[in-house]
Amino acid sequence: MDQTFVMIKPDGVARGLIGDVIARLEGKGLQLVAARLEKLPEKRVMEQYREHLEKPFFPSLRHYITSGPCFLMVWEGKNVVPVVRTLVGATNPADAAPGTIRGDLAMDIGRNVVHASDSPESARREIGIHFSPDNLCSYRRADETFLYE
Ligand code: RTP
Ligand code: MG
Repeated sequence: MDQTFVMIKPDGVARGLIGDVIARLEGKGLQLVAARLEKLPEKRVMEQYREHLEKPFFPSLRHYITSGPCFLMVWEGKNVVPVVRTLVGATNPADAAPGTIRGDLAMDIGRNVVHASDSPESARREIGIHFSPDNLCSYRRADETFLYE
């Protein structure tokens, strides 16, 4: 089954949105296979956002991501990478559709509540940055036969 990396950023944790975000992904039918609340070390922030290191917004992004604990998760499901990106919504919450996490719960691009991997390759890379294989739990949802045809 496909996997993706999802992270509730410090604004989402501080605003008490962990439960809301998890409920949306669980309700969709996705399966949580790993989770950890943690203040990210600089080294892993640089690895996580390596494609943005030279961008003008990177210094403020780094400051924000390390300003408090993040809630790191691995989720599993059919086509989970695009499915989660759709549930998360556009990068800028002002453009994010209603019903999405950023559309419903955020105001500013620099405080957009969640990160989600943008491709299966990014997902594999990002899961590897933050979790070891033995952190990932293998089990079955009881409703699996009703979620998939
Ligand atoms: P993420 O990686 O956090 O899931 O977000 P994303 O794919 O939707 O957006 P991405 O382009 O990867 O940007 C990463 C994060 O950097 C911040 N950002 N600020 N001020 C700006 O122009 C700007 N652009 C991006 C956002 O917090 C974005 O989520
Ligand atoms: Mg991104």
